[in-house]
Amino acid sequence: MKIVIANDHAAVELKHEIKAYMESLGHEVINIGTDSNESCHYPEFGKKAALMVANHQVDLGVLICGTGVGISLAANKIKGIRCGVCSETTTARLIRQHNNANMIAFGARIVGSELAKDIVKTFLEAEFEGGGRHQQRIDMISAIENEA
Ligand code: RB5
Repeated sequence: MKIVIANDHAAVELKHEIKAYMESLGHEVINIGTDSNESCHYPEFGKKAALMVANHQVDLGVLICGTGVGISLAANKIKGIRCGVCSETTTARLIRQHNNANMIAFGARIVGSELAKDIVKTFLEAEFEGGGRHQQRIDMISAIENEA
């Protein structure tokens, strides 16, 4: 798969580790996050990565900041983006199976690198269960985007 990865200054080292890990799994990974430890603004990176996912330039996106929350909030402002924050693998699996999440976020200050790799692998390998109640609920989320 083609995957965008983005991060702020809190997650530079983990970003490089996760990028290399996803490449080792055979994915093409585009890094659009900061490579500097200088303080920066996570909304810029969340937005840029989310636009790449929403515009189908990539299949999925991985976002990392200190907690994973700020960068996910920014990404979720983009129409068509469903980004979940995960600190364990069960949620990482379920956000694909039930929510058809197209982005995942986690915190470099929250999860260690081995757990982060397991979270990413679980997310990438899980598949949307499709149709039925899950699709209906996703359609309801999309409808909210059009109402707002
Ligand atoms: C940056 O210090 C930190 O606030 C950011 O990485 C993130 O945790 C925000 O949600």
